[in-house]
Amino acid sequence: MRQPLSTLGKIAFWGFLLATIAGIGGNVALILGGSPSRDLLTFAALLLVTTILVITGIRWLQAAAILPGVVLLYLFFTQPFVIQSLDEPKTDPQGGFGHFIGVVILFAIITLAFAASVGQVLQNYHRMGRRDTRRLAPIFSVIAGMTIGTLCIGALSPAAPSATIAAIAPLQAPQVPTGQGVSTAVNMGMAGAPTSLTQLQTPATPTHEDHFTLTAQKAQLALDSGTTVPGWTFNGTAPGPTLHVRQGDEVVVTLVNHLSFGVTIHWHGVRVANAADGVAGVTQDAVKPGQSYVYRFIALDAGTYWYHSHQFSYEETTNGLYGMLIVDPAIPTIHTDIDYSVALHSWNGANNQTLYTMNASDGTLTQKARPGQWVRLRIVNTAETPSGNPQLVTLVGAPFQVVSLDGHDLYGPQPLNETPLPIGSAQRYDLYFQMPTHGSVALVTAADSQHYVRAPALVIGQGTLPARLPTITKWFDLTTYGTPTADPVTNQSHFDATYTITLGNQMGMSLGRSGMTYTMNGKVFPDTGMIMVKEGQLIKLHFDNQTNLYHPMHLHGHVFTVLAQNGQPLTGSPVHQDTVLIPPHASYDVAFVANNPGIWMLHCHNFLHANWGMDMMVMYDVSTPYTVGSASGNFPD
Ligand code: C2O
Ligand code: CU
Repeated sequence: MRQPLSTLGKIAFWGFLLATIAGIGGNVALILGGSPSRDLLTFAALLLVTTILVITGIRWLQAAAILPGVVLLYLFFTQPFVIQSLDEPKTDPQGGFGHFIGVVILFAIITLAFAASVGQVLQNYHRMGRRDTRRLAPIFSVIAGMTIGTLCIGALSPAAPSATIAAIAPLQAPQVPTGQGVSTAVNMGMAGAPTSLTQLQTPATPTHEDHFTLTAQKAQLALDSGTTVPGWTFNGTAPGPTLHVRQGDEVVVTLVNHLSFGVTIHWHGVRVANAADGVAGVTQDAVKPGQSYVYRFIALDAGTYWYHSHQFSYEETTNGLYGMLIVDPAIPTIHTDIDYSVALHSWNGANNQTLYTMNASDGTLTQKARPGQWVRLRIVNTAETPSGNPQLVTLVGAPFQVVSLDGHDLYGPQPLNETPLPIGSAQRYDLYFQMPTHGSVALVTAADSQHYVRAPALVIGQGTLPARLPTITKWFDLTTYGTPTADPVTNQSHFDATYTITLGNQMGMSLGRSGMTYTMNGKVFPDTGMIMVKEGQLIKLHFDNQTNLYHPMHLHGHVFTVLAQNGQPLTGSPVHQDTVLIPPHASYDVAFVANNPGIWMLHCHNFLHANWGMDMMVMYDVSTPYTVGSASGNFPD
């Protein structure tokens, strides 16, 4: 049975041995580097087994080596680092061109070793005597048949997720649309205006400065479930670093772009000076690969905010270019022992699945807390909810108050029990509660309008997620919540101008693509027109949603006072938001004081809707040197 290795056998043996050594070396490097990879360990172990099988010289063992050989090729080829490296030889973040050559060589060696081991088996089969042949031929035929079959199925079938490897397609860099129906250069400003938005800067002041650097870079996001999601991130994580500052501070952020396409940072909900608003084609050019850009603004208002790219937001923010910004009040308003923030996000998984995360976890996040402690839990929905519906969340284990919406405090908030909270894309809720004397408090999300799910979840304090999750009851309603109190802007205020904005959807053209479009007053961006305002005016907007979908409408650089829903004035606390969620076939009245000169986007924060047309500008008499369109490559959505 055992015989000396033929030439092919030797090639197979040496090939697998070399690859094993490379695999072990790679493991050692990763373990020393502090990020051991389960996949690479499996890979090296399998290589070792295959090498041993080949060197035995025993025919049937050598034949058996073909199967792990197939698995090895499959494993290797579906590794995210391999896909990424082969896909983008020069810019892959793992190590560029050298890494690419290494990957190709390793791939070649394994393929060669595999081919040689198949050859070796066939050779052995050929040399066999008649007696053996009769006995072994059917076995080898079966093995060969299975191998060929496996290979064919593997080659033809779409990438499937496995327990250890997420076969999620690598991200494709956003493409600048061109061609028919795509604007080349649209200037969003007022030509010949006395002020250019480049003058609308935050001056360097003697106040306290907080400096941060955010580097836009690729990363493989390893989730608790073992799935790895390819992402574009700030500083290698999604959410990016939480920027924690104090009200009144000057925030100075250097954006460094290590991606292969343009990015910006928009400070969502923050009343920045216009030049720092981070909208590609409006307040700046998208920051090119290899370049950097400095944002400087004063954190005027305390509260929960976030940041995200505003260049191809639909692709860039969705795939990880976002993070949280927390502004602590200059004078604390409520006693807080624990201040915790959660970003709800969704990702494209394999096979068109949607993966949901809380911060970087798709399992259970935990946060320590002792009985009796007071917790402020900040929640932001950074996700593109595929259905366009708001994300429903609730808190289980303690009564809670909603103390602020979009970072702005509510007055006299009542305690709630397991009330479902609808969070539109970009909106924030701050919850406030006291830890019970025993047990935990959990934040859970709903997958649909019927059921809460067990993951992702946040568990605060001792214990685990409760065995039974509540059923979904009547949603939180911001129009009746809290206690009325005086507010500078009310329904009775005198408005200098009132604009009606009809939200619609219809088949049409947007960005050169024809299909469904989302419209404002029947038009798609950049033909949606603008809302002209003058400094000091009080402007009322009447949103009339004529679609079957929710639209979280966001205005940059200002804060809305919510006046009425379907014509009914609010009966609870005054509500101030930067993103107002408009239900299907509902209307909302909001008002804002025009107190921040510039050119400001007003758009649906459902990224897909914005991408397909639902954007316009609120305009002061201001010009801009930047343009949106294919000439500059600036596409804010
Ligand atoms: Cu959160 Cu126009 O953006
Ligand atoms: Cu929308």
